[in-house]
Parts: sequence; structure tokens; C-alpha cells
Amino acid sequence: MQDRLENFKRTVRANRSYRRFFEDVRVSDETLTDLLELARTTASGQNNQVTRFALVSEPDRCQDLFKLLRWAGALKDWDGPEAGERPSAYIVLVSPKKVNAAWDEGIIAQTILLGASEIGLGGCMLGSIDRLEICNTLKLDPETQWPKLVIALGKPKEEVVIEDVRQDQNLKYYRDEKQVHHVPKIVLEDLIIR
Ligand SMILES: Cc1cc2nc3c(=O)[nH]c(=O)nc-3n(C[C@H](O)[C@H](O)[C@H](O)COP(=O)(O)O)c2cc1C
Repeated sequence: MQDRLENFKRTVRANRSYRRFFEDVRVSDETLTDLLELARTTASGQNNQVTRFALVSEPDRCQDLFKLLRWAGALKDWDGPEAGERPSAYIVLVSPKKVNAAWDEGIIAQTILLGASEIGLGGCMLGSIDRLEICNTLKLDPETQWPKLVIALGKPKEEVVIEDVRQDQNLKYYRDEKQVHHVPKIVLEDLIIR
């Protein structure tokens, strides 16, 4: 039992936000639909299942979408991955503009990324996105298919490590001189209210 939990812990820890990829390793629509099949059965508030998915894997469309995403706000001297290191595919989560489905979207996105990590892929959730332009580019109806979250996917080309910190320490992620990405996470002791 403990072994299985340890294995799952490794899976969860390996599932980091990756922002640089081997862009030439393409992700097929079939892989994207396999990942969606995982997400399809996750929990949903009132089981309303309002989220729909736009799949983007063709290189030209990836390039168009890439321009509408903002990467790693905390890395001030980095504008996002350069050509050759960009994601190979995206899943755009859409739902009616007036509906708040953020909890569903988080569960869906985490499930997709966990699945991706199981097959040697990785990615990043992006909420800092140009929603109206995404509608125009992907020909989505802004009222009923408003982009809420984008999941970028690809074969990760960077090392990301977790750093245990206390809750009063700096929580900003950073890159070291070897370009290793460090993600501070608060230790359990400071998270549990006693
Ligand atoms: C709802 C949500 C929105 C996010 N939006 C962005 C984004 O627009 N751009 C980006 O580079 N990262 C984005 N991220 C990734 C976070 O920066 C990342 O989760 C955080 O730095 C912790 O790293 P970790 O995912 O490896 O734990 C987002 C994450 C979440 C959960």
C-alpha cells in the first residue's frame, strides 16, 4: 500500500509546469484525444460538464496560438520559449463566458497533465492568455466557447526541481545559472492547521 502511494507521489512530483520542449517531437491528435478520454470522467460541479476542448497540434496553428500566451510572469528576463523549444500541441478549455467552471477546469487540467507525464510528455497550464484573439484565431464563439485555460503540451526539454520552503520564505520560482527551474513548495508542517 505504502509502495503504491510512494509511486504515485513520484508521479505527482514529476508533473511540474514545463515551458521548454523538444518542439520537433510532435504530439498527435490521437494522443490528445486519449488524454481527453482520461479527463472526460473526472468530477464536475453538479456534474454539469460545461467544458469543451479545442485541440491544436498542427505546427502553423501552434505558432498562431503561441503568440497569444504569456509565459512565466516571474521570470522577468524571459519572454517564453524560443522557436524550436515551443509546445507541440495545445488543449484549449472553453465554456460559456458567463459560466464559472474554474474548479472543473483545474481538475481536468491536472488529470490531463498527469496522464501526459505517464507517457513521457509534460506541459503547462496557461491562464494568462489573450482570450478574444484566441476566439478569432480558433474560430470560437466568444459567448459560448470562451477560452478559460490553455494546456500546452510537448516533450519537456528542461529540468524542474521542487524546493521545500517554509511558508514565510520566498515562493517565487526561478532559474539557476544552469537553467534548472526551481519551484518552491511549502512544507507540510506549515500547511496543516493544528
Ligand atoms: C490556473 C493556473 C494558471 C496558470 N497560468 C500560467 C500562465 O499563464 N503562464 C505560465 O507560464 N504559467 C502558468 N501557470 C503555471 C504556474 O506558474 C505553475 O503552476 C507554478 O509556477 C508552480 O509550478 P508547478 O506547476 O511546477 O508546481 C498557471 C498555473 C495554474 C494552476
